[in-house]
Amino acid sequence: MNKDIKNILFTKEEIHNKVKEIADKLNEDYKGEEVIFVCVLKGSLPFYADLVREVNFPVTFDMVCVSSYGASAESSGTLKIKLDSGVSYEGKNVLIIEDILDTGNTLTNLLAHFSDRNPKSMRLCCLLDKPSRRLRDIQADYKGFEIPDEFVVGYGLDYAEKYRELPYIGVLKPEIYKNN
Ligand code: IMP
Ligand code: MG
Repeated sequence: MNKDIKNILFTKEEIHNKVKEIADKLNEDYKGEEVIFVCVLKGSLPFYADLVREVNFPVTFDMVCVSSYGASAESSGTLKIKLDSGVSYEGKNVLIIEDILDTGNTLTNLLAHFSDRNPKSMRLCCLLDKPSRRLRDIQADYKGFEIPDEFVVGYGLDYAEKYRELPYIGVLKPEIYKNN
């Protein structure tokens, strides 16, 4: 285990099983439909890549790169859109794939950013949910694990761009981010 990790919350196998569970629900709900999967970069990359390989309906890839953190463990509340493909969502099913729903600022602002795109449907799929920290009235249509109020890294999730490559999700030792 990485020395900066306090404890592992979800192993590679547990994550894999959860991704399959989410894909099963998507396979029921989107049967026979085409769906644009929007990867919210960068944290969602591993989740996105695993999820698209478990669904059995046609998927189109899209991505958006947003940032609300910088090198801190607290969301700034303002969303920077660093990359937007501008692809048309008109009349399409759109599924936004996010690593974690925390205060809800990121996804609330992202949905507002997409509000004039006239999709057939737009839903949210989040691997992790920290409901105790929510500041906005928003919830995921599909979610993996609910977690307590702890800062987690791994499987795409970072602290100051580190730990994304870890194959598990773990709690970061508070002393790593408390001094920043
Ligand atoms: P929100 O805007 O507060 O809902 O935060 C969503 C974004 O904050 C996610 O896309 C993550 O990038 C980041 N985030 C929130 N909580 C954590 C965490 O525990 N570890 C790593 N990143 C987090
Ligand atoms: Mg993120």
